[in-house]
Amino acid sequence: DQPEKPSHETYGFVVVSNRLPVDHTVGEDGQVSWEHSPGGLVTALEPVMRVNDGAWIGWAGKPDLEFEPFENDGINIVPVPLSDEEVERYYEGFSNDTLWPLYHDVISAPTYHRVWWESYVRVNRRFAEKAAEITEEGGVVWVQDYQLQLVPQYLRELRPDLTIGFFNHIPFPPLGIFSQLPWREKILEGLLGADVIGFQRADDASNFSRSVRHLLGYATTRPFIDVPVDDESAPLSRRGRKVRRVLAKQFPISIDSAGFEALSRRPDIQARAREIREGLGNPKTVILGVDRLDYTKGIRHRMKAFGELLSDGRLSVEDATLVQVASPSRERVEAYMDLRDEIELTVGRINGDYATMSHTAISYHHHGYPREEMVALYLAADIMLVTALRDGMNLVAKEYVAVRHDNDGVLILSEFAGAADELRSALLVNPHDIGGLKNTIMRAIEMPRRDRVTRMRALRRRVLDNDVAKWSAKFLEALAEVRPGHRIAAPP
Ligand code: G6P
Repeated sequence: DQPEKPSHETYGFVVVSNRLPVDHTVGEDGQVSWEHSPGGLVTALEPVMRVNDGAWIGWAGKPDLEFEPFENDGINIVPVPLSDEEVERYYEGFSNDTLWPLYHDVISAPTYHRVWWESYVRVNRRFAEKAAEITEEGGVVWVQDYQLQLVPQYLRELRPDLTIGFFNHIPFPPLGIFSQLPWREKILEGLLGADVIGFQRADDASNFSRSVRHLLGYATTRPFIDVPVDDESAPLSRRGRKVRRVLAKQFPISIDSAGFEALSRRPDIQARAREIREGLGNPKTVILGVDRLDYTKGIRHRMKAFGELLSDGRLSVEDATLVQVASPSRERVEAYMDLRDEIELTVGRINGDYATMSHTAISYHHHGYPREEMVALYLAADIMLVTALRDGMNLVAKEYVAVRHDNDGVLILSEFAGAADELRSALLVNPHDIGGLKNTIMRAIEMPRRDRVTRMRALRRRVLDNDVAKWSAKFLEALAEVRPGHRIAAPP
């Protein structure tokens, strides 16, 4: 099919993210199609876009692709091309080998290269220019995530009439870590171009404000930051300076909870869940991990704990199987290649030592799966194991809870995932404490049904109440309060 042209050229509501909600794919027959791309971000913003007939600016996931804007499933798509070199320097380099490890507690050592930074600047400028071009007078632009932290500043310079929001989907690091970044002031100035800067957790917002205070010397009165400006008409701060007030606070993101729950009630998906358990040889307990294959996720820690439970004889493969879905991610970045080797060696070793002809220890899958299959997996799992060493939110934890309409299943959740701030009724763990992790897995396996139900009910209330529609509504309300008169409809 020839994609449809959008009905207009400027939009009142524009979302800007590195990745478009669709990926460009070419079939064996040479046919081009657009498939939904991975990541929580996409799931989160799709409903908001639909009701507002807005546009989405982003990269199609492959180098050197030039496209005219088109409409896909009710969303107007405006592609921004990246060259081969930009994919290497801006995306794989600065975004995912500098910022990503830096913002996740330096779990892997960040690399600092000036040419990567220059590419980051250039690409951020391109995204800002595109947003400036297609947003109508007085419109709202919502910029997403760490790949685009300079866009708010550049966009404000080009279009002071716009209301600009920024949401950071990943953690914001403490000052002591953030200070490593050679371009730290530039990043802060970039973000401060926004009217509202959203974070996942209260800690992220206070880390950011503290960095602004210490590195730029601006006054902050939680949750506001006073940014000095030249504009004569701007209000005076308490210190007698002309300022622009920026709101920086937490807006914890969520999922389309009702959508996930509806899938979990489908008889075909429930049948698939039973089939999955049978395929695994009907172990007494199915433990599930679902992650992008990323060193922040603590996949090694989880396998270490599970492997030790088998070697200690506290578990056998008939008792429990660990299903690990590790979807391919950033495969040309060295830290990711190393991680993959290490995980796959570990899986091979554990299976070699403990699997029998009828039962595997770890059922490992280096694939992404469609949402229906994920829901079947969640339904098949007695225990969901989320052991992130650092994670902005972790939407997988929320997805598991949303599908468990039977009020059964146990969520083991890392204290270092943003979700732990809300999901207090999960079994919270420190993934670095392997002994504690092993005991928590055993506790989950042995937990009486009554306790499982009490905990899951409490978790479900949180996740069903606070869904992604509420998240975006709250963020957009905050934007409207800072710049009255700019209101965007939230999904019903
Ligand atoms: C995380 C980030 C997103 C990113 C996603 C997938 O969720 O917060 O911005 O899109 O990972 O990573 P990728 O590098 O493939 O876009």
